[in-house]
Formats: sequence, C-alpha cells, structure tokens
Amino acid sequence: MQVFGLVGNPVGHSLSPPMHEAAYAAHDIDARYVTFEPAPDDLAAAVEGARALGVSGLNVTVPYKERVHGLVAVDDLAGRIGAVNTVDFTGDRPTGHNTDAAGARRALEAEGDADLDGADAVVVGAGGAGRAVAHGLADAGATVAIANRTEERAVGLASDVPAATGHGLDALPGLLADATVLVNATSVGMEEDETPVPGDALHADLVVLDAVYAPLETRLLRDAAAAGATTVDGAWMLLYQGAEAFELWTGRPAPVAAMDDALRTHLR
Ligand code: ATR
Repeated sequence: MQVFGLVGNPVGHSLSPPMHEAAYAAHDIDARYVTFEPAPDDLAAAVEGARALGVSGLNVTVPYKERVHGLVAVDDLAGRIGAVNTVDFTGDRPTGHNTDAAGARRALEAEGDADLDGADAVVVGAGGAGRAVAHGLADAGATVAIANRTEERAVGLASDVPAATGHGLDALPGLLADATVLVNATSVGMEEDETPVPGDALHADLVVLDAVYAPLETRLLRDAAAAGATTVDGAWMLLYQGAEAFELWTGRPAPVAAMDDALRTHLR
C-alpha cells in the first residue's frame, strides 16, 4: 500500500484526504492519504522521516510551504515562486514542486474555457497564493497585472514575474477594462461577504476565478455572474492543484470527475 499525506498546521479540516482517496478508488490504486501536523522545530525531521518510511508523496500547506522549499531540491517553477506545496518521493531523491500555479491555470482553462496565451490577466493579491497564480498565468503566456491592498507588495512581486506590473487596488477599474481574466488570490470573501473588486468594473468578457472556496458562492462570483462574466469557483483551483499532484506522483491522468464529486460532497 502506498501512503501520501498533507503536512501543515492546522490540517484537521483539510479536504485533500477525501479528494485524493476518491482518485485512488477511481483508479483502483492501493493507497491512503493522511494528514500530519508537525511542530515547527520538527519540520525537517518530519520530511526526512516521511522519506525514510517510504511515504510516496506529501502535499504541504500553511505555514510550511516556504520552509519546505529550503529542504528539498525544487523544480524551476517552485524555485521562482519560492514555495513548495508538493513533495515527490517516488524518484531517486525528494523533489519539490508547486501545483498551486497549475491549479489556477487549469481551473481557468478547463472550467472557464479561458485562453491564457496572450491574455491580459489581473491577479488581486500578492501573498503566497498571488505569487503562485501570477507565475502560473505568466508561464501560460498571459500578461499579468497584480493589484494589492499594499501596493509595494504588488510592485515587488511584479518585478519577479516576466512582463508583470504592480498596482494598488484603486487601479482595478482601469486594469479590468481590457482584461479577459481575473483571479482573486486574497482571503477577502472568506470571513465576510465582501469583495476586493468593485462590481461595476466587471464585464461579460471576463473569466473570473475566486481562490476562496469557503463559501463557494462569494460576493465576487455573484457580482461577476450578474455582469455576465464566466465564473470559476475556488473548488476548481483546489481540485486542479490536487489533480496536478496526483499526476506527478502516479504518472496517470487525474480522475477529475471523481475528485470533484468528493470535494463538493464535503463543501456542501
Ligand atoms: P496567502 O498565502 O493566502 O496569499 P497572505 O500571504 O497572508 O496569504 O496574503 C493575503 C493576501 O490577501 C494579501 O494580498 C493581502 O493584502 P496585503 O498584502 O495588503 O496584506 C490580501 N488581503 C487580506 N485581507 C485583505 C483585505 N481586507 N482587503 C484587501 N486585501 C486583503
């Protein structure tokens, strides 16, 4: 039996175990997916211990993505993002990857029918999530404008992403006028029914992805639907980062429908 897992703190309410175990069941793979909450001082020992015990792969979540980046050999994208959310132990040595970037890209393409190559994309947020999304969209060929409450953080991130620009939130109406893709990578919408984007800046030519998945129907997505935009909820981004990790670990195409069923059962 193979063992996969999630390392973070806290991880008690994670939706990754049911999502990944649904994928193993769909492909008849004999595997379990379990959660681990190592103390900060034990993180390096935990990753090395997982390798020594024959664990096949780990996902990594808050607050450890940046630190695990320093513990394993990383691929180019994870290196540029500076954070690892997936460790693969199935090769000769442990390797670190960042599937959050592909999660956003694949959610927009597969569920929003977005054409990212040459698109003008707007990413709201310049934290860890914004960083992964901005690199993912730029790699797919989009020109990325990053808008953040703290403008300096957006400008700093933009200097690391090819052809990107950084702005304050007040630039959003101007940036969105010609854009075809919008991603909310802030936590706004999670705690309260609020949105970081003025509703009247949204329009029908946009594909809008909200990384927030609890609740699934955020105010941003309701405003976007009212403006005639195509909406993609945060469960799709969660799903596709998991699908990408599954594919890295197993070399098989992810059973997206089964994973989606499992996720939405738990999100309802
Ligand atoms: P994560 O790793 O999930 O991205 P983070 O690094 O703490 O978390 O970043 C949170 C993001 O949400 C940031 O872009 C933050 O803006 P600041 O850089 O100005 O802090 C954004 N954010 C959080 N609360 C916000 C709010 N009430 N209004 C606007 N942006 C907010």
